[in-house]
Formats: sequence, C-alpha cells, structure tokens
Amino acid sequence: MSTFRDLRHYIDQLTGTLGEDEVLRIDGADRDLDIGGITELMAEKEGPALMFDNIPGFPPGYRVFTNFMGTAARTAVALGLPPDTPKLDIVRAWKDLSRRIEPVPPVEVTTGPVLENVLTGDDVDLRVFPAPRWHEADGGRYIGTACMVIARDPDTGWVNIGTYRACVQGPDRLSLWMLGNRHARAIAEKYWARGRSCPIAVVVGQDPILSTAAAIAAPSGMSEYDLAGGLRGKGVEVLYPEGGEIPVPAHAEIVIEGEMPPVEEESVLEGPFGEWTGYYTHSGQETVVRVKRILHRDDPIILGAPPMLPTVPAGDQAVPLYSASVTWDHLEASGVQNIKGVWAYARQLLMVVSIEQTGAGDAVHALLAAAGRKRTGGMERYFVVVDEDIDVTDINHVLWAMFTRVDPSESIQVLRAPTTAIDPRLSPERREAGDLSMGIVLIDATKPFAWKDRYPAANRFDDAAREELRRRWEGVLAL
Ligand SMILES: Cc1cc2nc3c(=O)[nH]c(=O)nc-3n(C[C@H](O)[C@H](O)[C@H](O)COP(=O)(O)O)c2cc1C
Repeated sequence: MSTFRDLRHYIDQLTGTLGEDEVLRIDGADRDLDIGGITELMAEKEGPALMFDNIPGFPPGYRVFTNFMGTAARTAVALGLPPDTPKLDIVRAWKDLSRRIEPVPPVEVTTGPVLENVLTGDDVDLRVFPAPRWHEADGGRYIGTACMVIARDPDTGWVNIGTYRACVQGPDRLSLWMLGNRHARAIAEKYWARGRSCPIAVVVGQDPILSTAAAIAAPSGMSEYDLAGGLRGKGVEVLYPEGGEIPVPAHAEIVIEGEMPPVEEESVLEGPFGEWTGYYTHSGQETVVRVKRILHRDDPIILGAPPMLPTVPAGDQAVPLYSASVTWDHLEASGVQNIKGVWAYARQLLMVVSIEQTGAGDAVHALLAAAGRKRTGGMERYFVVVDEDIDVTDINHVLWAMFTRVDPSESIQVLRAPTTAIDPRLSPERREAGDLSMGIVLIDATKPFAWKDRYPAANRFDDAAREELRRRWEGVLAL
C-alpha cells in the first residue's frame, strides 16, 4: 500500500511513475472562476492533474492543486497499485483491502512542516490564501472542498474526521456545511449541550489516503486517522499545536484551528455551491468556525476537488471506485454467488453488477442486495445486473445488455428508498417535511435463467478472437 508522507510526496509519485506531463503547471489563472473552469474542462477530457501557481493577487508559491485523483491511473497510484492496474482490479483490490484492514493509530510527533508558519491574533487572515470561487453561482470562495474537518468527542476522546465544504466568510470566519447525520455535528452538539463551543481543526491539503479516509463513512467510534494508518500500513504523524486539543497532520499544507459556537449563537448564510449532483441545491444559515490560529507550510498548496456533473469521467474517479468496492463487499456479505464485477457510473447513481447465474433468482438476489446497502445520504438510483459476458466498465456494453436483455414489462422493479438532502428531484414539500425518500430502479438485464442457453448468440467477436486479431494485425492497424 501507499505510504505517502504528504500531498507533495504524492505529487512526486505521480510524475515519477506516470511522467512529468501527469501534473500540468498553470500560471496566471484567476482564483475567481478561471481555476474552477479550467479544472472542469480538463476533467471532462480526463486530462492531467493541475497545479495552479502565480495566482493574481497572491505570492508565487501559494498554489491550488486539482484533479488529483481524476483518473483510474492516478487513483491506482494513490492506492499504491501499479498505474496500469485494470479498472476492475482497482475496485477488487480496494474491496479486499478494506475487508482485512487493521486500524493503525496515529504517531504523535512534536514538530512538522505545518508549523513553518503560525498565524495568531491580528495575523489570522484566511484571505491570504487563494481560495477559489469554483462555479459561477457559488455564494462564496471555498477553501475546503477536499478538506478534513477534525473534532474530538468530549466524552470518549474519539477523534472524527469528515469532509464538509468550507467557505471563507471573513478574515477569521469559516462556514461549514454538515448534513444532519454527520459525526462532527453530533460531536458539536455534545459541546453545545454543555454550553461550550466545539473545538475544531480544518485541514486543507493532505495526501490522498487521508482524503479518502476522511470521505469514507467510518463507523462511529473509529477514527479516520486509524483507518488511514491501516490503509497505508503506517501510523499518520500528528502533532498537537501549542495548547490545542485536536491532533493535526504534521505534514498538512494548511490547518485552520478554531471553535464552532452553537448555531443559535452565531451562524452565517452558506451557499449556494455547485454540488456533485450537478446542481446548486443547498443554501441556508449554517455553522461558523471562529478561527483562532492558522498553521501553514511555506508555499502552501490548497487541495481542491470542486464538484462537477457526476457524469464527468474524471470528476472524482475515487468516489465511484470506492462506492463499487463497498457494494461488492456488501454483495459478498449478503451471500450473492459468482460476482464477476461491480462498477459505478455517475459517481454512484448507476450501479452495475455482473454475475454468472447458477440458478433462477440469482439476478434478483444481486439487485436486492446491492440496493440493500443504500442508506440515507446515498443517492444510488439505478441498479442493474448483467451477465458475465458484459464488461461492466464499458457503458456501451452495459447499455447493449439493458436494451436487448430487458423486457421492460417484467424485468424492472421500482421501490422507494432513502436519498440525500441534496437530491435535486426531492420536491420542496417533501424536503420541508423531512421526507428524504425517492424511487429507485432495479433492472434485471441478464438473460432469463430458464432459457438462458437458448438465448440468441451474440455476434460480437469474443475477447480471445479480438486478441488474436490485434496480434496478427499489429504494426498495420491499431486495433
Ligand atoms: C469531496 C467531498 C465533499 C463532501 N462534502 C460534504 C459536505 O459539504 N457536507 C457533508 O455533510 N458531507 C460532505 N461529504 C460527505 C462526507 O464527507 C462523508 O459522508 C463522510 O463519510 C462524513 O464523515 P462522518 O461520517 O465522520 O461525518 C463530502 C464528501 C466528499 C468526498
């Protein structure tokens, strides 16, 4: 597994293993919309990772790094796999790894590069960083899109890390938007119930393993630090800044420390913000961080992962790969046999499972099990099961199965299931009533088991024949 010390180390690994062109340096892009727009256009083309420098109005070296895990190859490097690992093998490796993962606690150190600059008192000013306005209608500049929000449970000492968007609201004010069931909110409520503000640290700029751990729904009581340590096989180096209660990564680019008062005491208008569904959904009075201290490395890098349409192939490749691995794990745990692959499209809106049928009912079992992983907060919408001859990583192949092996009058079932508060299809009435439910579609696109062997044969050259043609015509045709 990967053992990146920090974000810079990962960037070195990207260029080291995939070539210098894997990270494109861009000078002079404005933090208002240029950086966001270029990031989106490059992601649509599955282009390189982007390092923005010499941002107008900011010192050279104050950088923004985007599209960091935007392709399967970059995700493979992030997970410590060979860069040419086939896409489905990345999902399989991730599933196997998460199953055998042993939590490794963080290692406490006394110093680290994050302490190169310590801003306190009047020097606290978030505006020194080139936080971008990512999308045209964003309600502010978001420094935190792939950030880590760290809080500590006052009763148990459990340290939780989550990714919640963070908007600069003034020199010493940050807003956070945490959906209702987020752990940091539950922790903050414990402090608020005792009449205290909740100590909080927001990390901007960390390696992809820490980013991934922060975005994973680790069970309550398990620290994402331990999870990241398990993923990398080595404890994360953390330090307690002087007088601080929250351990922060010693190699982070930027750490913003402060406290979150109850919303009734102070709140701010947060949003709108272009969300991963492809819409601006949420805006409202949200929690504030009163910033007390800022730590940052020399020449700090803001790690940015602005949401884009979920259909952008390289929008955030890690999310679909991770969603597919979790679904695959869930299918196995539910006793589904002969799973050949699981792949997620549009982040996780369309989940495709391939199986080798051994009996009538296998396909429906797989569909129900895949849908059974869905919880409030998830937005899987379409579940499709296909036969083993379908390449789940090729959307055209999946569509062919859906168009030719489905009898819409009997192969499709619609159920009602939980969804997320940012589901754009929730009516205003349902949203206001707190009814976060939505239809989901289960599509059996397998050949009916009872007459599978009599299904018309496919006229597509099979894999062996394709390989043979490629070999024989090599040098004449690029097949
Ligand atoms: C790039 C990215 C951005 C996210 N932004 C938010 C957000 O703004 N608010 C939120 O509540 N969840 C957001 N999430 C989802 C949470 O980070 C995720 O559910 C995480 O597991 C929450 O951690 P927790 O269970 O410890 O609260 C985001 C996830 C990713 C990958």
